[in-house]
Parts: sequence; structure tokens; C-alpha cells
Amino acid sequence: MSQRVLSGIQPTGSLHLGNYFGAIQNYVALQDRYESIYCVVDLHALTSRPRAEDLKKNTLEAAKILLSCGLDPKRCVLFVQSHVPAHAELAWILACSTAYGDLTRMTQFKEKGDLAQSKGDIINTGIFTYPVLQAADILAYRAEIVPVGDDQLQHLELAREIVRRFNATYGETFPEPRPLLSTAKRVIGLDGEAKMSKSRGNDIGILDAPDVVKKKLASAKTDIKRLRRNDPGEPKDCNIFALHQFVTSPEKIAEIETGCRSASLGCVDCKGIFAASVEHLAGPIRARAEVLERRPDDIKNILRDGAGRANAIAEATMETVRKKIGIGEF
Ligand code: TRP
Repeated sequence: MSQRVLSGIQPTGSLHLGNYFGAIQNYVALQDRYESIYCVVDLHALTSRPRAEDLKKNTLEAAKILLSCGLDPKRCVLFVQSHVPAHAELAWILACSTAYGDLTRMTQFKEKGDLAQSKGDIINTGIFTYPVLQAADILAYRAEIVPVGDDQLQHLELAREIVRRFNATYGETFPEPRPLLSTAKRVIGLDGEAKMSKSRGNDIGILDAPDVVKKKLASAKTDIKRLRRNDPGEPKDCNIFALHQFVTSPEKIAEIETGCRSASLGCVDCKGIFAASVEHLAGPIRARAEVLERRPDDIKNILRDGAGRANAIAEATMETVRKKIGIGEF
């Protein structure tokens, strides 16, 4: 049997090109090579305590975008994390094989903790045990391959550590999952500074209409040393140039490079080419999303069916786990 892939994606507002190149594109490609399981991780999203109606809406929206991007329920299992109770149960069990010290060293925990504190919020324990729930997502399916961005490598290493400790205590139960990085390890946002993210407002949404994309690009950073139209630019110092590699053909990119260096091509022209490349990719995705938008029951049925299939696999794992650790029915 082919190896099993699992990944999770957070339902944060609208998914953007960073999510697409960092994860979704990879998910779509992996469907044909592995037994692929993908979940929208609404329990993880609870760490920021969203309003109930927002979380629900964003969860469905994320599923809609994943389907529009090419996840095919005939070739993968797509479901919502909270629809399969095993995730939360296994997270507790794995927490008992997780070192407190290891969790305190997670950089994402430190970042999110600092952010919460700076907003005057508590540092909730959910952001602390977040990586344990992530390990549970993976291990409930005994998945061996986990497509992620490089910011998740530390969480994956922790999941492997948890597996080793659990297996050492209770006997061989889980395989050690390994990360599969996409070629786009990190997609920098339109500010040219930080990873693309909706909360930073430096993103292009997968479903953004062309006029929205153009407006966002107008204020996007390019080579900051290129002040006037006739100044020659340095593509290496331009984030729009970096973004071109994801959507524009190599021939066109070579043209842009020479044009920028010789100042025959201005930043406005370069952004125009970028907008056209984005539309070439995103136009068909948006069209599929519009169809699904009118058929919300289709999305719900796909997710229900996905949860059923996911649950069957996860429950089988849980039966073994419960037996090994001495809980559950006698
Ligand atoms: N933590 C991941 C992220 O922020 C999302 C995630 C949750 C995940 N569960 C997972 C990724 C399981 C891979 C496998 O991107």
C-alpha cells in the first residue's frame, strides 16, 4: 500500500498565495502519489478564540478554496478536524508523553505568547499545547509524510520526539512522521519583510478579484533603491521579482530581469505582468469557487463524507492506542 500523507491547514479568514505555494499546490500534487488526508484544523484556530460564526464561516471558506484549488474528494480525504473526535482524545494522551521543556522551546509558542501578551490577552494553554494537537492530527492516521512549510519543522521534530517516547513506553505504535517541504519554503508578503499573512495585511488572497490584486500591488515594496522610473533596479533586492518565480514563465522572468537592470522596464510594468500571471493562475480557481459558493450543500456533503472516512481510520488507531495504555472499555 502507498504511504500516507497528512496535513492540516488553519481556517484563517481567506487563504492567500503564501498558503497556495507553500502548501496547497503541494497537497494537490501529492493526491496522485500517496494516500492523502487533509484537514481544516478548526480546533487549532480556537487558540485565538474567534467568534463562533466567524470560525464556522472561515472553516467552510477554507474547504471551498481547497476544493477550488484542485483537492479532489475522489483522490483524497478532506475533512474538518473537530468532526473526528480522535484528534482531541489523542492530543491528551500524547500530552502525557510530551516534555514541558520541549514545548517551552517552540518558537511559534514564544511568538504567539508575546503577541497575546502585547495585546493584553492571556497566554492560553492552547497555544502552549498546540504542537501536541498537531502531533495527534498526524499520528491518529499513522501518517508518515507531512507536507509543511519550513516554519513547521520544529513542530514536526517534536512530533517525532513524542513518537519515540510513546513507543519506548508502550511498545511500537506509531511511525516517525517526516516533513515534506514544498519548493516554496517561505513566501514573503507584499511589504517585502515578513512571511505573507492575512493578519499582517501583506497578502494576496487566492480569491482576490483582479482589481483588488492591482490595488494591493500598487503599494507593494520593490527595490527600495530604485527611486525614479529611469533608475536601474536590482531584481535580487525586489520582492515582486521574487514572487514572479511562482507564477511567471522562466522566459518572461529572464526578460523582466534584463528590463529591470537596464531600466527599460519600470516597476509599474513589472507589477502589471505579475498581476496578469496571478490572474492566469487564480482566474480558474475563482471560477470554481463561484460555482461552489452557490452550492454550499455540496461542500458540506464532501466534508461529511471525508469525516466518515477519516473517522474510520482514526478510530482503528485509537482502539490500538487505548488497549496499549490501559484505558477504554474492558
Ligand atoms: N500548524 C500548522 C500550520 O500552522 C497547521 C497544522 C495543524 C498541521 N495540524 C497539522 C500541519 C498537521 C501539518 C500536519 O501551518
